[in-house]
Amino acid sequence: ELESLKDLYADYFEIGAAVEPNRLTGRVSELLNKHFNSIVAENSMKPGSISPREDAYNITNANIIAQHAVDQDMTLRFHTLLWHSQGSDWMLQDANGNWLDATPENKALVETRLKNYITRVVTQYKGIATYYDVVNEVIDEGRPDGMRDSYWYRITGTDFIKWAFEAAHAADPDAKLYINDYNTHSPRKRDFLFDLATSLRDEGVPIHGVGHQTHINISGPSIQQISESIQKFAEAGFDNQITELDVSIYTTSGTSYDPIPEEILLQQGYRFKELFKELVRLDEMGKHADPSTPAYNPEGWISNVTLWGIADDGTWLHNRGGTRQDAPLPFDKQYQAKYAYWGMVEAVKNL
Ligand code: G3I
Repeated sequence: ELESLKDLYADYFEIGAAVEPNRLTGRVSELLNKHFNSIVAENSMKPGSISPREDAYNITNANIIAQHAVDQDMTLRFHTLLWHSQGSDWMLQDANGNWLDATPENKALVETRLKNYITRVVTQYKGIATYYDVVNEVIDEGRPDGMRDSYWYRITGTDFIKWAFEAAHAADPDAKLYINDYNTHSPRKRDFLFDLATSLRDEGVPIHGVGHQTHINISGPSIQQISESIQKFAEAGFDNQITELDVSIYTTSGTSYDPIPEEILLQQGYRFKELFKELVRLDEMGKHADPSTPAYNPEGWISNVTLWGIADDGTWLHNRGGTRQDAPLPFDKQYQAKYAYWGMVEAVKNL
């Protein structure tokens, strides 16, 4: 009988998994309920899933996931209220589906639509969802100002970010609100994200933490870069969550394994171990920081670590740019524990 991951990490952070309704029944749901105490919808709570058209409000799948969180006493991370991809494009378009020009009237229209949507959704899940990815992937470190060139940005500048946080907070003042992004270990991206988060907070915008997606692979990026980013936000008083962790077995686009060599799975196990050791160490730093500094947090620096899936039969990394199968999660296709699972166990036991 395997030890439960959520129990092993109970003193540190919640252990979450991305799910869809089809993961909530059968053998995979037994793994979910045993090892995880937090869930997030992989797709069902995105704006494009809930409101693909102005008159649409589809929450059937979202509610199945929310109900599972309630029934199993799991926290619910809500992903996401705003994203340039899989978004509610109608909010940014006219009745004919053309993108709106950047005029003051259109900006006001977008503001109203966004606030109405967020108010409705956050009110719906008030008392059920604990954390929200309020905005997802708004940073583009390749641009001079670091802001992604989305239609949100073209029409409203950076105001849409503030509106989103304020509307979420107004609808549920207890909700914890995050800005979520990938490659947050990259120093340039990290610094753009940091400047945005701190300037929002300085303006009085209710932002509580940073979501680090953490889609990594068996050799990169370095654990040190991941760590330095978390530390930078934590020392400024932001909570940190790992929101979409997976560890691809591939380091380049060319290679394809069939079967996957044992040494690759072993390498993956060490990678999970090193990462989780560092996450535990970082979490502890918050508890032992000088109480007179913003770095001090009796709950630790990291509140939740969510995997982007449960077992290798369900991962977005399959067939990316080809037909190869990936295996980025701690349980295999037969729902057996991998070295990655044991890496997580050994990390927290300090073995
Ligand atoms: O549901 C439809 C199905 O009806 C249709 O037949 C099929 C044909 O393409 O598509 C299905 O939708 C797919 C959906 O996943 C559900 O499986 C979309 O095409 C596909 O694009 C979508 O991919 C999701 C992706 O976000 C969208 O960009 C992945 O599952 C999901 O893991 C991924 O998650 C993102 C996070 O939200 C943000 N961070 C990065 C992360 C990985 O890309």
